[in-house]
Amino acid sequence: MQKITIAIDGYSSCGKSTLAKALAFRLGYKYIDTGAMYRAVTLYALRHNLIDDAGIINHEELLKALPEIEIHFKLNPETHISDVILNEEDVEREIRTMKVSGLVSKVSAIKEVREKMVVLQRNMGKRKGVIMDGRDIGTHVFPKAELKLFMTADPEVRAKRRQDEYSSKGQYFSLEEVKHSLMQRDHEDINRKESPLIKAEDAIVLDNSELSREEQLDYVLKLISDLQFISREEQSHH
Ligand code: DC
Repeated sequence: MQKITIAIDGYSSCGKSTLAKALAFRLGYKYIDTGAMYRAVTLYALRHNLIDDAGIINHEELLKALPEIEIHFKLNPETHISDVILNEEDVEREIRTMKVSGLVSKVSAIKEVREKMVVLQRNMGKRKGVIMDGRDIGTHVFPKAELKLFMTADPEVRAKRRQDEYSSKGQYFSLEEVKHSLMQRDHEDINRKESPLIKAEDAIVLDNSELSREEQLDYVLKLISDLQFISREEQSHH
Protein backbone atom coordinates (compact mmCIF):
# COMPACT_ATOMS: atom_id res chain seq x y z
CA MET A 1 0.00 0.00 0.00
CA GLN A 2 1.19 3.47 -0.79
CA LYS A 3 2.61 5.33 2.19
CA ILE A 4 0.90 8.53 3.24
CA THR A 5 1.52 11.37 5.67
CA ILE A 6 -0.73 11.55 8.73
CA ALA A 7 -0.99 14.83 10.66
CA ILE A 8 -2.52 14.79 14.14
CA ASP A 9 -3.17 18.12 15.82
CA GLY A 10 -5.26 19.14 18.78
CA TYR A 11 -5.44 20.34 22.34
CA SER A 12 -3.07 19.29 25.12
CA SER A 13 -3.51 15.82 26.57
CA CYS A 14 -6.13 14.61 24.14
CA GLY A 15 -4.33 11.36 23.56
CA LYS A 16 -2.66 12.41 20.31
CA SER A 17 0.55 10.59 21.01
CA THR A 18 -1.19 7.45 22.28
CA LEU A 19 -3.16 7.19 19.06
CA ALA A 20 -0.17 8.17 16.92
CA LYS A 21 2.02 5.47 18.49
CA ALA A 22 -0.62 2.78 18.03
CA LEU A 23 -1.09 3.78 14.39
CA ALA A 24 2.65 3.86 13.74
CA PHE A 25 3.01 0.39 15.22
CA ARG A 26 0.12 -0.98 13.19
CA LEU A 27 1.14 0.61 9.89
CA GLY A 28 4.91 0.29 10.28
CA TYR A 29 5.18 4.09 10.03
CA LYS A 30 7.57 6.46 11.74
CA TYR A 31 6.08 8.40 14.66
CA ILE A 32 7.33 11.92 15.34
CA ASP A 33 6.32 13.74 18.51
CA THR A 34 6.89 17.39 17.63
CA GLY A 35 5.87 18.55 21.11
CA ALA A 36 8.92 16.67 22.40
CA MET A 37 11.11 18.91 20.25
CA TYR A 38 9.69 22.12 21.74
CA ARG A 39 10.00 20.55 25.17
CA ALA A 40 13.66 19.76 24.52
CA VAL A 41 14.34 23.40 23.56
CA THR A 42 12.58 24.45 26.78
CA LEU A 43 14.72 22.07 28.81
CA TYR A 44 17.85 23.49 27.19
CA ALA A 45 16.71 27.03 28.06
CA LEU A 46 16.04 26.05 31.66
CA ARG A 47 19.37 24.35 32.08
CA HIS A 48 21.22 27.34 30.66
CA ASN A 49 19.34 29.80 32.86
CA LEU A 50 17.67 31.42 29.88
CA ILE A 51 14.34 31.40 31.73
CA ASP A 52 14.12 33.12 35.12
CA ASP A 53 12.10 32.05 38.16
CA ALA A 54 9.17 34.20 37.04
CA GLY A 55 9.08 32.33 33.71
CA ILE A 56 10.51 35.22 31.70
CA ILE A 57 12.55 34.04 28.73
CA ASN A 58 15.79 35.74 27.78
CA HIS A 59 14.92 35.92 24.07
CA GLU A 60 18.14 37.44 22.90
CA GLU A 61 20.32 34.80 24.54
CA LEU A 62 18.01 31.98 23.46
CA LEU A 63 18.23 33.10 19.83
CA LYS A 64 22.01 33.25 20.12
CA ALA A 65 22.03 29.74 21.56
CA LEU A 66 19.75 28.23 18.87
CA PRO A 67 22.61 27.01 16.65
CA GLU A 68 23.97 25.09 19.66
CA ILE A 69 20.71 23.16 20.10
CA GLU A 70 20.77 19.89 18.17
CA ILE A 71 17.66 17.74 18.31
CA HIS A 72 16.97 14.37 16.74
CA PHE A 73 15.10 11.17 17.53
CA LYS A 74 16.59 7.77 18.25
CA LEU A 75 14.80 4.44 18.48
CA ASN A 76 14.65 3.12 22.03
CA PRO A 77 15.08 -0.66 21.75
CA GLU A 78 13.08 -1.24 24.96
CA THR A 79 9.99 0.81 24.13
CA HIS A 80 10.29 0.52 20.29
CA ILE A 81 9.49 4.23 20.19
CA SER A 82 11.87 7.04 19.33
CA ASP A 83 13.24 9.08 22.20
CA VAL A 84 14.11 12.71 21.76
CA ILE A 85 17.84 13.43 21.89
CA LEU A 86 19.12 16.87 22.87
CA ASN A 87 22.80 17.39 22.10
CA GLU A 88 23.53 13.65 22.28
CA GLU A 89 21.60 13.17 25.55
CA ASP A 90 18.37 11.19 25.79
CA VAL A 91 16.01 13.64 27.53
CA GLU A 92 12.76 11.74 27.04
CA ARG A 93 12.09 11.66 30.79
CA GLU A 94 13.30 15.13 31.71
CA ILE A 95 11.02 16.85 29.20
CA ARG A 96 7.83 15.38 30.73
CA THR A 97 7.85 17.35 33.97
CA MET A 98 5.26 19.88 35.11
CA LYS A 99 7.99 22.52 35.08
CA VAL A 100 8.72 22.02 31.37
CA SER A 101 4.98 21.72 30.59
CA GLY A 102 4.38 25.09 32.24
CA LEU A 103 6.97 26.89 30.11
CA VAL A 104 6.94 25.12 26.76
CA SER A 105 4.10 27.16 25.25
CA LYS A 106 6.08 30.35 25.77
CA VAL A 107 9.19 28.88 24.17
CA SER A 108 7.20 27.42 21.28
CA ALA A 109 5.66 30.81 20.55
CA ILE A 110 9.05 32.17 19.47
CA LYS A 111 9.22 32.52 15.68
CA GLU A 112 12.86 31.49 15.28
CA VAL A 113 12.39 28.41 17.48
CA ARG A 114 9.44 27.32 15.35
CA GLU A 115 11.28 27.93 12.10
CA LYS A 116 14.15 25.74 13.21
CA MET A 117 11.85 22.91 14.36
CA VAL A 118 9.72 23.02 11.21
CA VAL A 119 12.77 22.57 8.97
CA LEU A 120 13.73 19.48 10.98
CA GLN A 121 10.15 18.14 10.92
CA ARG A 122 9.72 18.54 7.17
CA ASN A 123 13.01 16.77 6.66
CA MET A 124 11.98 13.86 8.88
CA GLY A 125 8.72 13.46 6.99
CA LYS A 126 9.90 13.89 3.45
CA ARG A 127 9.73 10.19 2.55
CA LYS A 128 6.12 9.82 3.79
CA GLY A 129 5.11 6.83 5.92
CA VAL A 130 5.10 9.21 8.85
CA ILE A 131 2.69 10.16 11.62
CA MET A 132 3.41 13.49 13.19
CA ASP A 133 1.54 14.98 16.12
CA GLY A 134 1.56 18.55 17.34
CA ARG A 135 -0.37 21.79 16.95
CA ASP A 136 0.46 23.02 13.44
CA ILE A 137 1.19 19.86 11.48
CA GLY A 138 -1.89 19.89 9.23
CA THR A 139 -1.95 23.67 8.88
CA HIS A 140 1.72 24.49 8.46
CA VAL A 141 4.26 21.65 8.55
CA PHE A 142 2.47 19.29 6.13
CA PRO A 143 -0.49 21.17 4.66
CA LYS A 144 -0.71 18.50 1.96
CA ALA A 145 -0.90 15.54 4.36
CA GLU A 146 -3.29 12.92 2.98
CA LEU A 147 -4.95 12.46 6.37
CA LYS A 148 -5.41 15.19 8.97
CA LEU A 149 -6.97 14.63 12.35
CA PHE A 150 -7.91 17.26 14.88
CA MET A 151 -8.28 15.75 18.33
CA THR A 152 -10.30 17.06 21.20
CA ALA A 153 -11.77 15.70 24.44
CA ASP A 154 -13.62 16.88 27.51
CA PRO A 155 -11.23 18.93 29.73
CA GLU A 156 -12.09 16.82 32.79
CA VAL A 157 -11.18 13.63 30.96
CA ARG A 158 -7.97 15.18 29.68
CA ALA A 159 -6.93 16.42 33.12
CA LYS A 160 -7.53 13.00 34.64
CA ARG A 161 -5.48 11.29 31.94
CA ARG A 162 -2.59 13.70 32.40
CA GLN A 163 -2.76 13.39 36.19
CA ASP A 164 -2.51 9.60 35.86
CA GLU A 165 0.44 9.98 33.52
CA TYR A 166 2.27 12.20 36.02
CA SER A 167 1.54 9.93 38.96
CA SER A 168 2.76 6.86 37.05
CA LYS A 169 6.09 8.70 36.93
CA GLY A 170 6.04 9.56 40.62
CA GLN A 171 4.85 13.16 40.18
CA TYR A 172 1.73 13.97 42.17
CA PHE A 173 -0.58 16.94 41.47
CA SER A 174 -4.21 17.70 42.20
CA LEU A 175 -6.72 17.41 39.39
CA GLU A 176 -7.39 21.16 39.61
CA GLU A 177 -3.71 21.95 39.25
CA VAL A 178 -3.34 19.72 36.21
CA LYS A 179 -6.51 21.10 34.64
CA HIS A 180 -5.39 24.67 35.18
CA SER A 181 -2.04 23.95 33.54
CA LEU A 182 -3.74 22.32 30.52
CA MET A 183 -6.17 25.18 30.05
CA GLN A 184 -3.37 27.72 30.33
CA ARG A 185 -1.35 25.86 27.69
CA ASP A 186 -4.30 25.59 25.30
CA HIS A 187 -4.97 29.29 25.73
CA GLU A 188 -1.38 30.17 24.85
CA ASP A 189 -1.26 27.74 21.91
CA ILE A 190 -4.52 29.05 20.43
CA ASN A 191 -3.68 32.72 20.86
CA ARG A 192 -0.06 32.93 19.75
CA LYS A 193 0.86 34.76 16.57
CA GLU A 194 3.08 32.14 14.95
CA SER A 195 1.22 29.07 13.65
CA PRO A 196 -1.42 28.99 16.38
CA LEU A 197 -3.37 25.86 17.19
CA ILE A 198 -6.27 25.80 14.77
CA LYS A 199 -8.12 23.07 12.95
CA ALA A 200 -7.09 22.75 9.31
CA GLU A 201 -10.12 23.15 7.05
CA ASP A 202 -9.79 19.62 5.75
CA ALA A 203 -9.04 17.99 9.12
CA ILE A 204 -11.39 15.40 10.58
CA VAL A 205 -12.41 16.15 14.17
CA LEU A 206 -11.98 13.27 16.58
CA ASP A 207 -13.49 13.75 20.04
CA ASN A 208 -12.27 10.80 22.04
CA SER A 209 -13.86 11.64 25.43
CA GLU A 210 -15.90 8.47 25.27
CA LEU A 211 -13.82 6.31 22.97
CA SER A 212 -11.48 3.54 24.00
CA ARG A 213 -8.02 3.29 22.46
CA GLU A 214 -9.16 0.37 20.29
CA GLU A 215 -12.19 2.29 19.05
CA GLN A 216 -10.02 5.25 18.06
CA LEU A 217 -7.52 3.03 16.30
CA ASP A 218 -10.26 1.17 14.38
CA TYR A 219 -11.88 4.45 13.40
CA VAL A 220 -8.67 5.87 11.95
CA LEU A 221 -7.66 2.62 10.23
CA LYS A 222 -11.04 2.70 8.52
CA LEU A 223 -10.43 6.31 7.41
CA ILE A 224 -7.09 5.25 5.95
CA SER A 225 -8.50 2.29 4.09
CA ASP A 226 -11.31 4.48 2.69
CA LEU A 227 -8.71 6.99 1.53
CA GLN A 228 -6.75 4.29 -0.20
CA PHE A 229 -9.89 2.96 -1.83
CA ILE A 230 -10.74 6.43 -3.14
CA SER A 231 -7.25 6.94 -4.52
CA ARG A 232 -7.37 3.54 -6.29
CA GLU A 233 -10.76 4.43 -7.77
CA GLU A 234 -9.39 7.75 -8.99
CA GLN A 235 -6.40 6.09 -10.58
CA SER A 236 -8.56 3.55 -12.36
CA HIS A 237 -10.61 6.37 -13.89
CA HIS A 238 -7.58 8.05 -15.40
O1 DC B 1 2.22 17.88 22.61
P1 DC B 1 2.94 18.46 23.84
O2 DC B 1 2.03 18.70 24.98
O3 DC B 1 4.13 17.68 24.22
O4 DC B 1 3.44 19.89 23.32
C1 DC B 1 4.10 20.78 24.16
C2 DC B 1 3.91 22.21 23.70
O5 DC B 1 4.66 22.45 22.52
C3 DC B 1 2.50 22.65 23.39
O6 DC B 1 1.89 23.26 24.51
C4 DC B 1 2.67 23.63 22.29
C5 DC B 1 3.96 23.31 21.66
N1 DC B 1 3.85 22.68 20.34
C6 DC B 1 3.72 23.51 19.27
O7 DC B 1 3.65 24.72 19.43
N2 DC B 1 3.70 23.00 18.02
C7 DC B 1 3.78 21.69 17.82
N3 DC B 1 3.77 21.21 16.57
C8 DC B 1 3.89 20.82 18.91
C9 DC B 1 3.90 21.35 20.18
